[in-house]
Amino acid sequence: MITEEQINEIKKKSDIVEVISSYIPLTKKGRNYFGLCPFHDDHSPSMSVSPEKGIFNCFVCGAKGNAISFVMDYEKVNYVEALKVLADKCGISLNVNTYKKKDNYDELYKIYDTTCKFYQNNLNTSSGKEAREYLKNRGISEDIIKEFNIGLALSFDKSVTKLLIKKGYKENTLVDIGISNKTDYGYQDLFLNRVMFPLWNIEGKIVGYSGRIYNTTDSAKYINTKETVIFKKGLNLYNYHRAKNEVRLANQVIIMEGFMDVIRAYSVGIKNVIATMGTALTKEQASLIKKLSNNVILCFDGDAAGNKATSACGNELIKIGINPKVVRLESNLDPDEYIIKYGVKKFKDKLNNCISFLDFRLNYLKEGKNLNDNEDLSNYINAVIDEVITIDDEILRELTLKKISSEINISFETLINKMWKKLEENNTSNNMDIPMENMEYYPPPPAYEYRPNEYKTNKKISKNVINDTNIVDKYTKAERKILFYMLHDKELTYKYEKVFPYLPTKIYRFLASEIMYFVKKYDTISISDFLNYLSSKQELVDLVGKILNYDYDENYTEEEITDYFKVLREYNFKSETERLTELLKNESDLEKQIELANKIMNLKKGVEESARD
Ligand code: CTP
Ligand code: MN
Repeated sequence: MITEEQINEIKKKSDIVEVISSYIPLTKKGRNYFGLCPFHDDHSPSMSVSPEKGIFNCFVCGAKGNAISFVMDYEKVNYVEALKVLADKCGISLNVNTYKKKDNYDELYKIYDTTCKFYQNNLNTSSGKEAREYLKNRGISEDIIKEFNIGLALSFDKSVTKLLIKKGYKENTLVDIGISNKTDYGYQDLFLNRVMFPLWNIEGKIVGYSGRIYNTTDSAKYINTKETVIFKKGLNLYNYHRAKNEVRLANQVIIMEGFMDVIRAYSVGIKNVIATMGTALTKEQASLIKKLSNNVILCFDGDAAGNKATSACGNELIKIGINPKVVRLESNLDPDEYIIKYGVKKFKDKLNNCISFLDFRLNYLKEGKNLNDNEDLSNYINAVIDEVITIDDEILRELTLKKISSEINISFETLINKMWKKLEENNTSNNMDIPMENMEYYPPPPAYEYRPNEYKTNKKISKNVINDTNIVDKYTKAERKILFYMLHDKELTYKYEKVFPYLPTKIYRFLASEIMYFVKKYDTISISDFLNYLSSKQELVDLVGKILNYDYDENYTEEEITDYFKVLREYNFKSETERLTELLKNESDLEKQIELANKIMNLKKGVEESARD
């Protein structure tokens, strides 16, 4: 449990100069310290650290903050984790298990560690000879096998399930986390006769596997662990935890499709690589990438599917403000094959000659079109213009059109006029769907009528939210408790969704919406994953830290929760009644007066009924 006092103690004891110089060398000049800024490609010391103010500041890239935010940015961790790092550095011991009360996955991680050792051992036995040969033939060295914990699943008689059951783990647990299967012959391993590649979560814990065939061709090439409470595909990227540091050093992150590509690149010394594992990039993965670097290279397979994936992935990144670069490999090769065929040097040349996403898109639009055919040409021009109007920069727009114009022999004026016309059409039609990511908080407030007046609400409660030492009123307490338990138990979130009480405090309401969104999407609430998901919304990350720090009992009763919901309903009714009464006072139209009076009466009846419940 990190208490408010402990946080203050951590802040007090964490000397910013000490903290930062544990990562990068600092030299004293006058009252301040200076060092190479780790947040951009710095060649002369641009970052100053002020021990008096407790802040750092880079005058080139603008990075600034205090000791906590430095650790968050440098280590790519969230607020609570940064506190832990700092506590460690200044010798304050924290009981870090606080955040995993209900969803304690330590046991599951332990199971995965056991399976990993088991599979690794198999590879070194005599039954592992064929698999060892396979890896050797693919040019995967002993070192890489070790570094990536590559192992081997054998046949029924060498079952890890048996071992785990003997160790006392429950069969159901093993099935739930995707290690075992229930068969007619009892519980068995899910992975059989496959080379096993562990999959890590972004913190570096093994949470799943990809198993590849090696001595047969009549079965799916890869089998992957299903989605489980600890393995959320849309929240993971292969090799993320290892690449973190390398990305900082290279000031660039390379994204590939397959984990074999990553392993190959890594083994030839290109280590700032991660993989999407052949699935479409989620919004959450895009933000994870952004946390690593804004300098992104997409290096997908050279085939048509790779083209499509590059396009989709790039579009997802653009939505969050990253303009990626693109490498396309010839002859349908994937990075693994390319490196083997042409060597590292040529591959690096490719990386150094990457093209802009825009140029990639323009080439992509041209593919399969015969520009001597009028219909194809017209389609191409339309597609190009659709693309160009998404460009924010006017100069870039014009340059692009000029380039296209000379390429297809159509005058620049024609093209730009066409563009303006399209822009106008788009502005007047104005019936575009608002994309999900622009809806800052999902879902929208409830549609029912009892919506308290926001302004009044905030005024009443905000004092207590800001100043925790105040005795909180029962409404605020109800909100906090509900959020606290939602953060520990997904069931409560489902309940919350059903009841859908309107939380009076805006930021609490936002947090509840985010929890709801997360739980509905991933059917779990793991604090670390959730914090990562929230990462760009610092205010909410801090709020989660705060709420988890309340000294509430981790167990709750149904009655308690019903009570909190009731309290909130009462609040909603009350403030709505007040609002309607106010309206009634100022209403001169008789008919409307009657309508309002009726509404108030119904509300009051509702309060009485709910009091009797
Ligand atoms: N993939 C999968 N199931 C498949 C095929 C692919 O899960 N049947 C995923 C894997 O995570 C793989 C990625 O998609 O890493 C890319 O697929 P592919 O390009 O086919 O794999 P390669 O990396 O080329 O694998 P290999 O070289 O071993 O054939
Ligand atoms: Mn391959």
